[in-house]
Amino acid sequence: MAILSIPDQAIQLFDSSEIKAFLQQYHVFFDQWSCTVTFDDTASQDEILEAYAKDLKPYMSSGGYQSADVISIHALTPNYEQLRAKFLAEHIHDEDEIRFFVDGQGLFWFHLQDAPVFNVLCQRGDLISVPAGTKHWFDAGAQQPFVKAIRIFTDMSGWTPIYTESGIESKYLHFKSPTLG
Ligand code: LAC
Ligand code: NI
Repeated sequence: MAILSIPDQAIQLFDSSEIKAFLQQYHVFFDQWSCTVTFDDTASQDEILEAYAKDLKPYMSSGGYQSADVISIHALTPNYEQLRAKFLAEHIHDEDEIRFFVDGQGLFWFHLQDAPVFNVLCQRGDLISVPAGTKHWFDAGAQQPFVKAIRIFTDMSGWTPIYTESGIESKYLHFKSPTLG
C-alpha cells in the first residue's frame, strides 16, 4: 500500500487509484502486483522472480526491458550509510528506473517541472517506474532499513545516477514519513 505526500501543501493520498492518477499526469507509472507466496530470508532471486512471473514477464516484454534482479537492504547491510547517501541526493538516469517492492519499504522523492516536490512511500506489492531523465531521490530510512525489491532494466549501465547537485533534498530531510524510521 503506497502513500503519496506533498509536504509543502500538507496533502497525502492513500488511495491507490488516486495515487496512480496523480503520478500518471507526470508520466510516472504506478501499479500493484500481488502473489500468494510469502518469502522468508532464504528465498532466492529466482524464486522471487518466478513468483511474480505472471506480471513481470508481460511488463518486461511490453516495455522492451531486458533484465531483472532482486536487491535486499536490511539493518545488517554493510556500509548502509554510504549506500543511503548515494541515493539521497537528487539525480537522474539515462534509462527508466523501475522498482517493484516485494517486501519492506522506501520513499521515492520527485522534483518535476511545474509540480510541487512530492514523495511516494512504496511498500509490498507496489511497482513504480521513474522515466529516464526524471529528477528524483530515494530513502529507505536512517534506522532499520528494509527493502526487498525487483529491479527491472533495459541496460544496467543506464542506471548509474547522474547527480544534479541542486541540493534540494536537504530541504526535505526533516520530512517524517508515515512509517519509515
Ligand atoms: C536508484 C534509486 C533508488 O537510483 O533512485 O536506484
Ligand atoms: Ni535513481
